[in-house]
Amino acid sequence: MAESMKHIDPDTMPRSPGITYQQLLDTDSKPVPDVLRLQSPRDLGTHDYAAERYTSKEWHDKEVARLWRRVWQMACREEDIPQPGDHHRYDIAGISFLIVRAGDGAIKAYPNACLHRGRLLKEHDGRANELRCPFHGFCWNLEGELVDVPARWDFPQIITSEFSLPAIPVATWGGFVFINPDQKCAPFEDFIADLADQFDRWDLSKLYKQVHVAKIMPCNWKIAQEAFCEAYHVNGTHPQILKSLGDVNSQVDVWDNCARVITPSYTPSPLLGYEVSDEDMMRSLMDIPEDQPVPELPDGTSPRAWSAMNTREMLRPDAGDIVDEYCDAEMVDNLDYTLFPNFHPWGAFNRIVYRFRPNGDDHRSCIFECMMLAPFQGERPPPAEVTWLQADEPWSSALGFLGKVFDQDAFNMPKVQLGLESTYKPGITLSAYQESKVRWLHHRLGEWLDD
Ligand SMILES: [Fe+2]
Repeated sequence: MAESMKHIDPDTMPRSPGITYQQLLDTDSKPVPDVLRLQSPRDLGTHDYAAERYTSKEWHDKEVARLWRRVWQMACREEDIPQPGDHHRYDIAGISFLIVRAGDGAIKAYPNACLHRGRLLKEHDGRANELRCPFHGFCWNLEGELVDVPARWDFPQIITSEFSLPAIPVATWGGFVFINPDQKCAPFEDFIADLADQFDRWDLSKLYKQVHVAKIMPCNWKIAQEAFCEAYHVNGTHPQILKSLGDVNSQVDVWDNCARVITPSYTPSPLLGYEVSDEDMMRSLMDIPEDQPVPELPDGTSPRAWSAMNTREMLRPDAGDIVDEYCDAEMVDNLDYTLFPNFHPWGAFNRIVYRFRPNGDDHRSCIFECMMLAPFQGERPPPAEVTWLQADEPWSSALGFLGKVFDQDAFNMPKVQLGLESTYKPGITLSAYQESKVRWLHHRLGEWLDD
């Protein structure tokens, strides 16, 4: 891989006019942590990627066989299954798994299938002290050992000790449970290392899942995912936030198994080509209507520092005084991380986590989920259950201002699918730097599928 993802020099590569992200960090009112000072631009070439990656069933079938059946993937939060017997159904590309909290508190994962005639063992999340198939009543304990076969005398071929549910690899990181359908997979430690390095300061296991919204989107899972992997689309898709978002000033960093796009807030887009007042910047980012006043800034305080200050105070009751250790950038910027192939935790205080998966075995629809993680004091609050939005329900009905932005992104998705079905051009064209996270995703995907 090293050869095809060459490091490039951040100081000499082509860049947008205007302030760089690193220059913006120099203006921070607090010390900036090392993790934000890292730069890892990579040269991933300038070639196109085939449109059939989004439109062809053959490509999808290859993804199922070579990616989804073999890759580490986020299945749920640990807090979704806190007690022995709690189980969570996780489906990927038409395959179902059961994540179970065993009697000793360990987390186990099994293919969600009875070893008798193959029926799903559990259709729904819940709590049970055994895993009993509803079809004929074959039953396993939480550790996966066979404990009951009705009319046992009629199955002379079954050896109890050899009829356990096959356990598949499980790992946890940041309060998330990851599974791998491949019992001979590579170690999770290698898979998570790049991302884990980045999140040293931001322990997502200490947060609880406050919000979880899901919706089936009428497009390939990668179309939905890639709508959140660059800020280059803000100019066309979210023009209302250009006054307060340094879209093309974003810093893009690529490591082997994770990548990030950092898009600064409270700095205007260089694409506007005119001066933006502090007032206009705040109006834009805080969604303040023209007929309402903008809060007055203390003398000598930039909108960026002021917003960071407010965010610290907003978080303090739940997060505690650790907020004082966070710099302005950690409070206001958009640190969008991606772990290959489909897990997107935001960094710093920001609580957003996305996940994108094929919707069953259909390559022309997908499941897009957004979770919000939040700090808490005292006892861990129960995690939010998933709210499924129906096709006609906008994201704004569940996620407010953020949802309005999602609705603009979602509006493009089926049109991208239809366009890619219609185009005479064999592939999609990507920019060299700003869209390098999308390029990296395709690069990695190609490696997995060619293998
Ligand atoms: Fe967007």
